[in-house]
Amino acid sequence: MRFPLIFLGAVGLTAAGLYGCAKAPGRPVPGEMPVVLSKISDFSILYGQNCSGCHGQEGSGGAAIALANPVYLAIADDAILRQATASGIPGTSMPAFAQSAGGMLTDKQVDEIVGGIRKRWARPEVLSGVDLPPYSSSTPGDSTRGSALFAAYCSSCHGAGGRGGQKASSIVEGSFLALMNDQELRIIVIAGRPELGAPDWRGDVPGKPLFSQDISDIVAWLASQLPKFPGQPFPTPAKVMGEIQ
Ligand code: HEC
Ligand code: HEC
Repeated sequence: MRFPLIFLGAVGLTAAGLYGCAKAPGRPVPGEMPVVLSKISDFSILYGQNCSGCHGQEGSGGAAIALANPVYLAIADDAILRQATASGIPGTSMPAFAQSAGGMLTDKQVDEIVGGIRKRWARPEVLSGVDLPPYSSSTPGDSTRGSALFAAYCSSCHGAGGRGGQKASSIVEGSFLALMNDQELRIIVIAGRPELGAPDWRGDVPGKPLFSQDISDIVAWLASQLPKFPGQPFPTPAKVMGEIQ
């Protein structure tokens, strides 16, 4: 006769535990707890919330370069990825994410993202034995030489003077160049944008890969195409500015 009593007591207590305390007004149950941003450590969530809007789902590219590009990941080491993620890239729309630079992510989360990008998307085996141009160059580019190289290597798709052609759009628009710095242009020439059909440094003229200095020269020429007043519709901004003053 005592057993049912104990049993009922246990049911009663459990019920009180479930529906009494847990449902006390105002007390959140586990699923409703707000997630503390700094506690998220999952790469997919961190990448999805912070990076995919510009760099695409799974690093596939979008407004900004694909990060799942094996050539890019072969020339850029973890220090470069960490620096870009933590501090942003001056002269482009790439924001700084580390709390120390005014962003929302802890240093641990930045490391998590860098490690995840490397682990998921780097494919060193597809480039083994390939002579890659270096990530950056210490020698300045010569834009006169770059202009001739552009005609030989790039205008077949981007048109004369880079103003747009059958196979690819203009890359000398002020609005485009104003949001690019030389290093980012260099990365695009080396790594291409395979997701958009843009070749890497080996594919502009098949069988004739670009050398590091060629890339610097082409970038110098591209950078020299940036108008003095990007975004201004006036044909002679300096003259108009003069008249205003
Ligand atoms: C608002 C858009 C935007 C967001 C969000 C963004 N990026 Fe970028 N990122 C850019 C742009 C723009 C560039 C420059 C190259 C280009 O235009 O494609 C860039 C470049 C980079 C580069 C190349 C840096 C170099 O010079 O080698 C890395 C690495 C990178 N981003 C990582 C990230 C990571 C990781 C996140 C998320 C934590 C992120 N980005 C979020 C816009 C963005
Ligand atoms: C086989 C054709 C082809 C060749 C050759 C080529 N490109 Fe492109 N390029 C493309 C395509 C396609 C895109 C992406 C779509 C577009 O811009 O029309 C592109 C995009 C770009 C972009 C813009 C990327 C962005 O973020 O929007 C730059 C910069 C660029 N190319 C530079 C060059 C330079 C410099 C050369 C020569 C070294 C070159 N390309 C050679 C096809 C080509």
